[in-house]
Amino acid sequence: MAASMACMAFEDNNLPSWWRDTPPNRQRRLLASTQNGVSITVDQRQLCNFSSNDYLGLRSHPAVIDAASTALHHYGVGSGGSRYISGDAPLFHAMEQALATWKGAEACLLVGSGMLANMGVLQALATRHSAIFADRLNHASLLDGCRLSGAHLYRYPHKDLAVLERMLGKNKSDQRIIVSDGIFSMDGDEADAAALMKLTEKYDAWLILDDAHGNGCTGENGAGLTTKTGIQGHPRLIETGTFAKALGGYGAFVLASEAMINGFIQRLRTVIYTTALPPAIIAAMQVSLPLFQQQNLRQRLQENIYYFLRCNKGLPLLPSSTPIQAFMVGDDADALGAAKQLQDAGFFIPAIRPPTVSKGTARLRITLSAMHTRPQIKALSEALHLL
Ligand SMILES: Cc1ncc(COP(=O)(O)O)c(C=O)c1O
Repeated sequence: MAASMACMAFEDNNLPSWWRDTPPNRQRRLLASTQNGVSITVDQRQLCNFSSNDYLGLRSHPAVIDAASTALHHYGVGSGGSRYISGDAPLFHAMEQALATWKGAEACLLVGSGMLANMGVLQALATRHSAIFADRLNHASLLDGCRLSGAHLYRYPHKDLAVLERMLGKNKSDQRIIVSDGIFSMDGDEADAAALMKLTEKYDAWLILDDAHGNGCTGENGAGLTTKTGIQGHPRLIETGTFAKALGGYGAFVLASEAMINGFIQRLRTVIYTTALPPAIIAAMQVSLPLFQQQNLRQRLQENIYYFLRCNKGLPLLPSSTPIQAFMVGDDADALGAAKQLQDAGFFIPAIRPPTVSKGTARLRITLSAMHTRPQIKALSEALHLL
């Protein structure tokens, strides 16, 4: 019964008429990513995974798993309610304090996921009188937050701060907000966060920076791009981050001045009207956070990135010194073909196609982890040279 209903869902007559032009490009696969870090079972075959955001291998660190498991027995599986009703727990507050200290911010608020953090922050901060200036390659969650806010949205070409400044100069709104990814999720390059902050100050604006991929990968103590560029703790900075990348978990956080976080506590609909995160995941993140700051793990990640770049000189990679390496293909079918060729060679790197990236820029998004070994990176590089 369930199977026949699933089939029917793809028949045109069972779809709204306005959906029928969109081909079902995205397919779910039978994947199982096992606990040993970088191996993944795809269609019952074990492959080396170069597509995860678990940059430091903390998702399967024994101490992190133990913390989650102990907390599960203590707190149960779910939190049981929203934070403002019955779902709050002292460890949420302790974690917020730890994150604020680590990131050099005055205050922090936990949120259900990075998607919810970005959508919620923009919806809360901006009004329909605001002007939001957003990098064209920002993550979808930031774009959706801009749309949800009802504000006027101006998208500037990727990292083109001259155009951004012209836009800011011409705009008459007294509610200006600049929004950018820290490390861009599909290209792997870094925003010029210090320059964005200068423009924020000059034009009396606010800066929302999503450091999802910077945390754990760059900056002192792995504290991300804001630390690397010295803008952490700036009163005009609102920073979002997620547990779902290098911290190896699930959930997210917003960092800002205490006044701003108090404002979000009143206004952030994606916290107020949703169930709090499971306490066990926070307990796990309490253990992940100090591990994540250890120099040796980040050092291994850096060495893997340098090694990968050395092995792949001359290939069509976008400039990036982060764990996200985009191997450009262009055509969608060619990207699918390249992903299949890599899969046959034992590597899991799905093709990224429009609308996730713009038309004609389909690519293989390769992500590196501290857990990859040199032989694995070398073997992947040999396979990439054969594409
Ligand atoms: C830049 C960026 N921001 C936010 C998110 C969403 O984070 P989460 O997976 O915690 O919802 C992602 C993940 O895809 C991302 O790449």
